[in-house]
Amino acid sequence: MFFSFSALCYILSVLPSATGLRQVRHDANFQPDYVLRVTEQTIAVACRTRLSAVVNGTSPGPPIYLKENQTTWIRVYNDFASENLTMKHWHGLSQSVAPWSDGTPQASQWPIKAQHFFDYEIRPQIGEAGSYLYHSHVAFQAVSAAGPIIIEEVDGQHPYDYDDEKIIFLSELFNLTDASVNKMLTAPYEDFGWPGDAESILVNGKGYASLLPDETLTPRPWSSPDPSAEKPCGPEIIEVEPDTIYRFRTIGGVALSPLVFQLQDHDNLTIISADARYTQPASTDLIQMGAGQRYDFIIHTKTEEELRSLGRSMFWMQIEPRYRDINSTSYAILSYKTDLGFNSTVPSSAPPETPIDIPFNNQYWMEYTLQPLQPNGFPSAKQVTRQVFLASSQLISKSGFSWTVSNRTWTENNEHEDDTPYNNTNSTPNTPYLVDIYRRGEAAIPDYNKAVQEYGGWDPDFNVYPAKVGEVVDIILINEPNGIAGGFDAHPWHIHGDHVYDLGSGPGTYNATENEEKLTGYNPIQRDTSLLFKYVLGNDIGTGHDYTSQGWRAWRVKIQNPGVWMVHCHILQHMIMGMQSVWVMGNASEITHGTTPDLVQGYLTYGGDAYGNSTHNPLVNHYYED
Ligand SMILES: *[C@@H]1O[C@H](CO)[C@@H](O)[C@H](O)[C@H]1NC(C)=O
Ligand SMILES: *[C@@H]1O[C@H](CO)[C@@H](O)[C@H](O)[C@H]1NC(C)=O
Ligand SMILES: *[C@@H]1O[C@H](CO)[C@@H](O)[C@H](O)[C@H]1NC(C)=O
Ligand SMILES: *[C@@H]1O[C@H](CO)[C@@H](O)[C@H](O)[C@H]1NC(C)=O
Ligand SMILES: *[C@@H]1O[C@H](CO)[C@@H](O)[C@H](O)[C@H]1NC(C)=O
Ligand SMILES: *[C@@H]1O[C@H](CO)[C@@H](O)[C@H](O)[C@H]1NC(C)=O
Ligand SMILES: *[C@@H]1O[C@H](CO)[C@@H](O)[C@H](O)[C@H]1NC(C)=O
Ligand SMILES: *[C@@H]1O[C@H](CO)[C@@H](O)[C@H](O)[C@H]1NC(C)=O
Ligand SMILES: *[C@@H]1O[C@H](CO)[C@@H](O)[C@H](O)[C@H]1NC(C)=O
Ligand SMILES: *[C@@H]1O[C@H](CO)[C@@H](O)[C@H](O)[C@H]1NC(C)=O
Ligand SMILES: *[C@@H]1O[C@H](CO)[C@@H](O)[C@H](O)[C@H]1NC(C)=O
Ligand SMILES: *[C@@H]1O[C@H](CO)[C@@H](O)[C@H](O)[C@H]1NC(C)=O
Repeated sequence: MFFSFSALCYILSVLPSATGLRQVRHDANFQPDYVLRVTEQTIAVACRTRLSAVVNGTSPGPPIYLKENQTTWIRVYNDFASENLTMKHWHGLSQSVAPWSDGTPQASQWPIKAQHFFDYEIRPQIGEAGSYLYHSHVAFQAVSAAGPIIIEEVDGQHPYDYDDEKIIFLSELFNLTDASVNKMLTAPYEDFGWPGDAESILVNGKGYASLLPDETLTPRPWSSPDPSAEKPCGPEIIEVEPDTIYRFRTIGGVALSPLVFQLQDHDNLTIISADARYTQPASTDLIQMGAGQRYDFIIHTKTEEELRSLGRSMFWMQIEPRYRDINSTSYAILSYKTDLGFNSTVPSSAPPETPIDIPFNNQYWMEYTLQPLQPNGFPSAKQVTRQVFLASSQLISKSGFSWTVSNRTWTENNEHEDDTPYNNTNSTPNTPYLVDIYRRGEAAIPDYNKAVQEYGGWDPDFNVYPAKVGEVVDIILINEPNGIAGGFDAHPWHIHGDHVYDLGSGPGTYNATENEEKLTGYNPIQRDTSLLFKYVLGNDIGTGHDYTSQGWRAWRVKIQNPGVWMVHCHILQHMIMGMQSVWVMGNASEITHGTTPDLVQGYLTYGGDAYGNSTHNPLVNHYYED
């Protein structure tokens, strides 16, 4: 019965649900639902200033509210002076039907030219309600050019009751500018430099300069070091009412660090959703999240009586990075709106000692624990057609330092081309794959048989991974045991185009038989980002740096949304260093849904008719009626 249910879902989802493609000139009569303007400017953040790519002048950018089964048009302006660096990716949302809206430059589309805009058509499907983020998909811009997306249920009914909700958008502050980070990471061997860890962790864009190494005794005060300057400084204050049920939507907008956080004296957080898929309730006292992940949890706040007996109405939210070289701690404040008289002023600096002792190693947190709220059509091992291993490893070559996917790199600028000996004979160099498929049809589709039989799933002529619609592929992400230049790292792996079934993770070598036993009676959740950990074993525990063990994470993927989709580590530095792959799912007629090139002409050239500017109204494809 379970099988026939999932088979039905599969049939429905391969049929394009668009009622018909229309071309519409977006002149003054067209009003987008949202307008986002991306600029580069110096912003005041965490006691100082930084030149940053920002959306509507702030980081994070404004929240966007979408509804299931409803089309929303979002116009994104690239207001940069000369760079074409502003594609927006709607992280976690499938864009199979409106293919020009996934926002991956050189994979699905041309980037937006400076001083131009692009209209994105987004229609969340039923079942996609939850918390997401949008962000730039170019170089290091997403460190600041990012913001929350909230998708509401089609009928406005949540499966869990709550009184109110709070968005907690976590991000990082780096002292260096995007340009310097990019330059250091893409430099040739002699000039390569690692730009270092984040200086502070920000909550909803707010924070303060953390301790510097030589300032270990006294925490820095939060008041601005330069009173004359406009440099807001201090923690985010999350205001709550007593005795109220909140849904906290926590969004991992960080560039680099996996984070762990706890709320002082609030140790019953009930997880209800992971990566925008509802889960059965799961109680925990801490949340761990990597770049790109989201957890929604329910919290029932304390009554006035409880606050009175505790003698406080402000509590620390303590946030720490994990699996990095630093143990810096950042804070926000959970503040109750009461007249009790406690904590009437915000403290002037971080606490001298960490109020919460957060466990250091959390590699097993919530593994094999979270289950979907409704059966999610999890395919059995028998349905799996093949396995693909994607190894996370470093390479050093004359082109510099690369982070690779099985010793191969992909970036939108081919920066690390030397590290990927692909022949590039069948692809059109420097043309986005999806554009190439619209232009040349089947000739632009990678060679499935060659890839599967000879190269572990990778096509050497295109530098992509082909897959067939209807396949069920187990993707095994591994921390490569050989050829490591700088030790193991923890990698938040992210997939575009669909969610995957997360089969779990562990240290050592993946053994499918052993893992299948662990899945007996357990229904894996679907998510779009999960962490491949590094592990400390035996005597290494607690020594911090000595991560010496191989590890793995396994995904099961139903190939059901034809398109060009990326699978990549979500650490921005690693993406710049090459740790990205492109997957081509389906054949040309499936990917284009039979659309002929004349109907998409404006999308096929850089700065084409589909891209607007101050004197040009774009000709835009409408894939949905409403
Ligand atoms: C972003 O800014 C533009 C104008 O600068 C404004 O029209 C638009 O409403 C803003 N968008 C949001 C989501 O606030
Ligand atoms: C979803 O939208 C389609 C097309 O607009 C409509 O026919 C259908 O009834 C909607 N479904 C729900 C559950 O609202
Ligand atoms: C912008 O993108 C186009 C097309 O990919 C590329 O040819 C051009 O060099 C890019 N320009 C800049 C300034 O990066
Ligand atoms: C940021 O980096 C610059 C240049 O390396 C340095 O002079 C400055 O002190 C740093 N600022 C902070 C707040 O660490
Ligand atoms: C934790 O919170 C959930 C949801 O608010 C509640 O159902 C559960 O009883 C609580 N558990 C404890 C131990 O308080
Ligand atoms: C709140 O007040 C209590 C009691 O004075 C104090 O111990 C605590 O540090 C204060 N908390 C915050 C976040 O200021
Ligand atoms: C990557 O290259 C290293 C060094 O040549 C080699 O030891 C390793 O097996 C390679 N990994 C894969 C997945 O091919
Ligand atoms: C690229 O072509 C050369 C010459 O035909 C061949 O030796 C090499 O194996 C090819 N590389 C790949 C990755 O297929
Ligand atoms: C995988 O695990 C099974 C069951 O524990 C065991 O019989 C088998 O030898 C293992 N395979 C490998 C390659 O270690
Ligand atoms: C970070 O904390 C862990 C656990 O307390 C400790 O083992 C490790 O040495 C610390 N690392 C650094 C770089 O201080
Ligand atoms: C593409 O896939 C469809 C099935 O969805 C099939 O009917 C068609 O023959 C395929 N085309 C080619 C060229 O393989
Ligand atoms: C605006 O777009 C039109 C049509 O693509 C183009 O001819 C024109 O040069 C563009 N204007 C600017 C300022 O780029």
